[in-house]
Amino acid sequence: MSDKPTSPTSTAFDATRRPPGTVEVMYSAAEIGARVGALAAEIADTLGPEIMVVAVLKGSFVFTADLLRALHHHGVHPRIDFMTLSSYGTGTESSGKVAVTKDISDDVRGAKILLIDDILESGRTLAFARELLRDRGAEQVQLCVLLDKPEKRKIEVDADYVGFSIGDAFVVGYGLDYAHYYRELPYIGTISTE
Ligand code: IMP
Ligand code: MG
Repeated sequence: MSDKPTSPTSTAFDATRRPPGTVEVMYSAAEIGARVGALAAEIADTLGPEIMVVAVLKGSFVFTADLLRALHHHGVHPRIDFMTLSSYGTGTESSGKVAVTKDISDDVRGAKILLIDDILESGRTLAFARELLRDRGAEQVQLCVLLDKPEKRKIEVDADYVGFSIGDAFVVGYGLDYAHYYRELPYIGTISTE
């Protein structure tokens, strides 16, 4: 018997596991590409070329990589850093407490920050991260999310830039996972288990 504790986020690699269900496309790779291009133009217009990007891992890594390259075409040359946040709670409802599990290493004092996440849902994660960066002396913090689920908001927070606004559906792909699967999909979709 192993003496190592196990948790849903640190299970041993199992080569026999397979992705659950099938995925139905909600936004194709081409639709996402067009939207990311438009967002980059809007961000460059508003924030200018000197910005710092802070991306919240893991879900935003694909979106961030594409958005950065789109920003390059608009003359933006950002510094880039990453943080990992976790919300603690019981069952499926999070308690609302957010903690930093991996912090950024750059100094944010005086920076104009574009804070990027995959989804804005309850709003707790991004509200927490924005406050943290402001407390550390960032001059400005704007929020950019690939997806917004306005119906699921628990606290008042709006993103400055939104890729797509969606209803109450669980989505995967383009960085987003279900049980560690599907982050690699080039499109965004919903899972059906039938
Ligand atoms: P919140 O706004 O603090 O509730 O944080 C939303 C976080 O929950 C996102 O960053 C995702 O990691 C996760 N999440 C919410 N909805 C989905 C979904 O539909 N698919 C995958 N992850 C999700
Ligand atoms: Mg996330």
